[in-house]
Formats: sequence, C-alpha cells, structure tokens
Amino acid sequence: MKSRLLFVDDDANVLDGLRRVLRSQRDEWDMHFAGSGAEALQIMDVYPIDIIVADLSMPVMNGVELLENVMDRYPETIRMVLSGRSESGLFMKAVAVTHQYLSKPCNPEILKSAIAQATESKIFLQDENLKKLISNIGALPSVPRLYRDVSQELKSPEASLNKIGEMISSEPGMAAKVLQLANSAYFGRRHGISKISEAVSYLGLDRVAQLILAINAFAEFNPAVSGSFPIERLWTHSNSTAARAKQIAEDQHAESKTRDDAFTAGLLHDIGKLILASRFPEEYAAVLTKAMTDQIPLYLAERETFSITHAEVGAYLLAIWGLPNPIVEAAAYHHNPTTIPVQSFSALTAVHAADALEYMADSEAVH
Ligand SMILES: [Fe+2]
Ligand SMILES: [Fe+2]
Repeated sequence: MKSRLLFVDDDANVLDGLRRVLRSQRDEWDMHFAGSGAEALQIMDVYPIDIIVADLSMPVMNGVELLENVMDRYPETIRMVLSGRSESGLFMKAVAVTHQYLSKPCNPEILKSAIAQATESKIFLQDENLKKLISNIGALPSVPRLYRDVSQELKSPEASLNKIGEMISSEPGMAAKVLQLANSAYFGRRHGISKISEAVSYLGLDRVAQLILAINAFAEFNPAVSGSFPIERLWTHSNSTAARAKQIAEDQHAESKTRDDAFTAGLLHDIGKLILASRFPEEYAAVLTKAMTDQIPLYLAERETFSITHAEVGAYLLAIWGLPNPIVEAAAYHHNPTTIPVQSFSALTAVHAADALEYMADSEAVH
C-alpha cells in the first residue's frame, strides 16, 4: 500500500515547490497538500495519514497547534516539521509535539530520504497490537533537542570539537554522563578525562550524537515513574551490549558503518523496555515478576500482557526518530533475528549475539 503523506504550508510557493520535487515519488506516495491547519484537519478526517509534514508559522492555527491537534486525534501519525530558522520561538514549543525536524530550504534529496525512512516504520505500524498500545501511550518522546543540535553541527563541514563540547556542557546531567562513559571500562579507560571536549574526541565525534540520544532516553524515563524497574541495570546492560556488538562487528571485519551501527543499536536495542516500564508501571512490574518466577525471557512475559514486546515498541520509536534502518531492524528483531530473510552480517547479527552473551554472563538479568 502507498504511504499517505500530508504537507501543510500557508505559502503556496512552498507547496508548489514540494509538489514539483516530489513528483517522482508519485508511485510510492499518496500525497496531499493543505494551505492551512484547518484544511489539513479536514483532509485527515477523510483520509488516514501516515506522515504529516507541517510548517510552523501559519496564520490562525500555527504548526504547533496543528500538531497538538493531530497528536490528540491521530496519535499514530508521524509528525514532522519543515520550518525556517527564524521561527525559533515556535520551534521550542514544537519540541513536545514533533518527531522530526527538517529546516527550510530543504535539499530535495534530504527531504525524500527523511520521509522514506519514516515510511519504513509503517511495517511496525501495521501491527494491530502495536497500534493499540501506541494510541494508549499517546505522545512518545520527541527526538531530543541536544541530539538535533549536535547532529546538525556534525554535518557542517567545519564541525568543531569545542562547539560540540559547549553544547553538551550546557546540560549538566548530560555532561556528567558523557564524562562517566569516557572514563568507563567499556571504552577501555578508567579515569583521567575531565574535560568534555576531551571526552568527545576520545569517544569519537560520530558516536557522541548517538550517546546523547541514548542518555537522553534514559533520563526521560524517570526511574521514580517506572517504579520497580531496574533502570541502572538496563543502562549498564545497554552499554556493555553496545561495546560487545561493536567488538563482534570488528572481529567479523565488518565495514566501519556496520561497526558504528552495531554500537548504536546495542545501546538502543532495549529502549522499548523504558517506554513500557514508564508508561505502564504497574503492569510492567507484574511482567518483571512473572519473568523471574516462571524463569521465562522478559519478552515472552511482555507478550502475554501487552500482546507485543519491547522489541517492536523500541523499533517503532527509533523509526519515527529517523534512525537508520539497520538500527531500527536490530532493535525490532534482536530476540529472533532469523524471522527476517537477510542472511548477511549486519548490526542485527552483532546485537543479537552480543545481547545473548551479555545475558549468559549475567545470570540474574532478565531479558
Ligand atoms: Fe531485549
Ligand atoms: Fe538486551
């Protein structure tokens, strides 16, 4: 089935430009265009929309108000913003309701690939049980601002270590975690790094944005909210799975992109547990107890209660955040990699093996 997209902008020239550059996608995408928030909502009354791409500053109903409305009425729709840099006031408000941002003017190729990536999450969306669960959760956390800023900086040709260091230092909790990681055994080093810029260069520029994403996800799901959930333990497990997955990829002489994907996927593979534990604290506590008493893997206990596991929930979040497909796939299938037909070595293979080895090493862990 074609993906259904809706573009909203009060500037007719922008809509015409979008129509023109996206014409080549006509066979794959069913595209709708609206000149106002009201018109967009009218369209959504009639056609189910997979992805909405909205401008922020629009008269009468601005982009934030529109997306709030969409979030309430159609929680399964992926919400993207396409806006100019001058709209910074609205931009800050949009953080709570947006899954992904694109800045105007947008290179057509970047636009197409961002949308294509988001449409791939549809394979997860089509699962009825997941749909139900996601609509009960309502709003999923949007991609963290710091991650967005740092990724943007990394893309610029004159990306500077000091600038990225400064960005991270502006959030003390984040800075502390980055330093802790740089000094941790996972990275082969125990103590001695005290400057953020030094930590960033030691961990690797590319990896820093992914670490921010993971650290943020863990901070977002406050352990107080998630009750009895052993969040520190999951953090440790995620870190060691990441390091091990990267090591496995290296041992297999995988190309450098696969090694990096293996690391990120290791870090994020169990993120669905955080969502379930923080959004359904009581049910999840019961799931944990059941897995322990019956000595079954956690994901089987989850399936009994939610009809879905942390793997699909996590993959869904990563997909709407726009992470590369190999990472989404690794999260989705890390318990049963053979269910997808790809046979070659990938981040998925690395994470599956690393995860299994980690659980073998830790007899009290639940997975
Ligand atoms: Fe898992
Ligand atoms: Fe795991």
